[in-house]
Amino acid sequence: MKVMGFIASPRKEGNTAWIVNQILEGAKVHGAETQSWYCSDLDIKPCQGCWGCHKGDQGCVIKDDMQKLNDAIDHADAIVFGSPIYMMQMSAQAKIFIDRMFARFSPRYSPYFKEENAAQKKLILTFNQGNPDSSLFQSYIDYTKHMFELLEFDVKEVPVVTGMRNGPAHERKDLHTVMKDIGSSLVSERFPEYRSTETVP
Ligand SMILES: Cc1cc2nc3c(=O)[nH]c(=O)nc-3n(C[C@H](O)[C@H](O)[C@H](O)COP(=O)(O)O)c2cc1C
Repeated sequence: MKVMGFIASPRKEGNTAWIVNQILEGAKVHGAETQSWYCSDLDIKPCQGCWGCHKGDQGCVIKDDMQKLNDAIDHADAIVFGSPIYMMQMSAQAKIFIDRMFARFSPRYSPYFKEENAAQKKLILTFNQGNPDSSLFQSYIDYTKHMFELLEFDVKEVPVVTGMRNGPAHERKDLHTVMKDIGSSLVSERFPEYRSTETVP
């Protein structure tokens, strides 16, 4: 099983990176092949709205590092997508990546339309935020989960880590096991129902 992590934070050693990598580590110890992609290492330009991806059959006409990511997505069985909450929403880096995924849904290009099962890539969507109040962005997080489901991802869990203003994620001993367990569930497919949109305060 191949699991790809996308870290949509500019901080390579920040909370998002740590959380995504812990989840990947949990998957790895259960035999998965994993790879982390840091947006800060990548050149991903915003969608230009040219509809070139729908007019031609070559996918997105912008030639940048999104090609590498599309390739990684094509070969992944599961994706771990992590973003910090910035101004009550996902980071700009996360949004640029998602907008560029529009090209994947062109009937002329997309593997989603060519392979019967390609639509069912598993996804762990994870957010983290400074504020300790877990209810603040819940409706936005639910909405984002729904968006990924409309994009045909099989969203398995949406762990939201709160209270990052009180200290970095890696210092939170409780998170070590919780995050690794989520990664191992990706491989074992044993997802406890109660954990599906867990908030870790
Ligand atoms: C530009 C910016 C905007 C932020 N907006 C919010 C916010 O609206 N609500 C919140 O709880 N935390 C907010 N935060 C805090 C981050 O979500 C938090 O520190 C997060 O853990 C950062 O992730 P990172 O370590 O991967 O960069 C913001 C941080 C930045 C830099």
